[in-house]
Amino acid sequence: MSGLFITFEGPEGAGKSTNLQVFAKALRAAGCEPLLTREPGGTPVAERIREVLLSHHEEAMCADTELLLMFAARAQHLDGLIKPALAAGRVVISDRFTDATYAYQGGGRGIPVERIASLETWVQGDLRPDLTVIFDVPVEVGMARARARSELDRFEIEQQSFFEAVRATYLQRAAAEPTRYRVIDARGDLEQVEAGMQPLITEVLERWHA
Ligand code: TMP
Repeated sequence: MSGLFITFEGPEGAGKSTNLQVFAKALRAAGCEPLLTREPGGTPVAERIREVLLSHHEEAMCADTELLLMFAARAQHLDGLIKPALAAGRVVISDRFTDATYAYQGGGRGIPVERIASLETWVQGDLRPDLTVIFDVPVEVGMARARARSELDRFEIEQQSFFEAVRATYLQRAAAEPTRYRVIDARGDLEQVEAGMQPLITEVLERWHA
């Protein structure tokens, strides 16, 4: 794979989707046209799976169903979009990827990490993001932002303790592998977060040129 695979992560209301647009704009200004995508989703079939995952159902969805659907969507996304783009040398930026599975299904739902790791190997082989940016906000701040913006999806209705576990898992993963992860404090306004992303934009452009 000759491209560069970057993932943006964070709990609800961390502003990662807005920051992703700002980041992409800065790359474009330097002549690099990234492929922007998201998970769950990114291809028509994976987006259908996303609808099932995010919408409310009369029947409770069990944790293993949720986990398997996340990886089903990911398999489709990798095959149909991410791998071909990386093979073509593109910079791919995905709004969430497998770190979200460790954080939400692992930390939040309590699924053992080994089960997630075995699916990760099955679906991805040895493909991992080159760089993962975690936008970190205290849970109360993120939840207040998420509540203010739209109707809450099946994840956003979870309790504070669920999101504390999500946040803690992200931060643990970042601490365990500092070469791959960058944590950005996303408590401030857009300008402050943008300033925090500057070194990262420079780094990505350097790696892209290399
Ligand atoms: P979004 O709101 O950032 O688009 O993400 C959709 C939701 O899906 C979000 O609540 C996090 C959740 N999610 C998981 O639980 N596991 C995963 O593997 C992914 C990719 C997302």
